[in-house]
Amino acid sequence: MSRTVALTGGTGFIGRCVMRRLLHAGWAVRALTRAVQPAPASSSPSLHWVRGSLEDREALARLLQGAFAVVHCAGAVRGRTAADFEPANVVGVSRLAEAALAQTVPPRLLALSSLAAREPGLSAYAASKRKGEVVLESLGGHLSWTVLRPPAVYGPGDRELLPLFRLMAKGVAPILGPRQARFSLLYVEDLADAVLSWLTLDECPRGIYTLHDGHENGYSWDEVAATMRSLRGRGVLVLPVPSWLLHTAAVGMTGWSRCTGAPPMLTPGKVRELRHPDWVCDNAAWQAVSGWVPQVEFVRGIRLTLAATD
Ligand SMILES: NC(=O)c1ccc[n+]([C@@H]2O[C@H](COP(=O)([O-])OP(=O)(O)OC[C@H]3O[C@@H](n4cnc5c(N)ncnc54)[C@H](OP(=O)(O)O)[C@@H]3O)[C@@H](O)[C@H]2O)c1
Repeated sequence: MSRTVALTGGTGFIGRCVMRRLLHAGWAVRALTRAVQPAPASSSPSLHWVRGSLEDREALARLLQGAFAVVHCAGAVRGRTAADFEPANVVGVSRLAEAALAQTVPPRLLALSSLAAREPGLSAYAASKRKGEVVLESLGGHLSWTVLRPPAVYGPGDRELLPLFRLMAKGVAPILGPRQARFSLLYVEDLADAVLSWLTLDECPRGIYTLHDGHENGYSWDEVAATMRSLRGRGVLVLPVPSWLLHTAAVGMTGWSRCTGAPPMLTPGKVRELRHPDWVCDNAAWQAVSGWVPQVEFVRGIRLTLAATD
């Protein structure tokens, strides 16, 4: 059996962590990159970069050649419209699956979707993640594939949630969703562990699996603020942000991004995701097929995250 794993998104928040853990576990990693990368350090002789993108079929063929598995962490997470998300999150999945099927022995494929795919009507991002899943579902039995649907993932190197958590650690906790809303969370190292456990399974479980940090029924914004309060040993100012203010900010940022071309941090779709009351998911099915057990609940994960990025 080949010990090579092909990886997409290895330059991103989650992919970087997955790559580090794969190398540490003794896998050889062939990783797709759009930018020129420095030569791997002599401490990482098992890492080989393949220059190209999800749009580049020839690069995907080189990426996958002889690999045991492909772990697909690349994706578009910021944008305004379907046209910003679908090339990576839908067509990209399709091209990767085609490249896998073109191999003499097709590698098994693990794709990172998102819990957002459960509510495709909320945003262009959510819809694109669901469409990416449908691409794999429609392959039937031709390819061995698994989809993981993580909830919000946090950890060192995150660009989306970390600024908010840093602000909370300084004593100001904006509450961006409804007070009664609940959401699951996942520490990035636990997600990387889930990938490693998938690689060791004899059979690739075909299906879509949710996973979280083991905290049943998720968290509320107030619980997150309370955790920050206990970590600080001092008070945290809780500031509920009204929905109209978030929407106004989102419309402003989206308009500004049209002028600058840079993807906006907040869009009306992102606000609908933030205001959604239920982002709680279940671990049971994934644990049953993989034996994976999350190790890091929020209080420890956020301490590790803030310590790593101070
Ligand atoms: N972060 C979360 O909370 C979270 C939660 C659930 C699911 N997810 C999913 O997990 C995946 C990774 O998210 P992330 O937070 O790590 O995002 P990220 O930090 O923005 O990383 C995205 C990665 O995808 C690569 N990429 C994007 N478009 C590409 C293309 N056309 N061709 C090749 N590479 C491309 C980027 O490469 P460059 O470095 O060249 O830009 C980067 O390596 C995404 O699919 C996301 O939907 C994330």
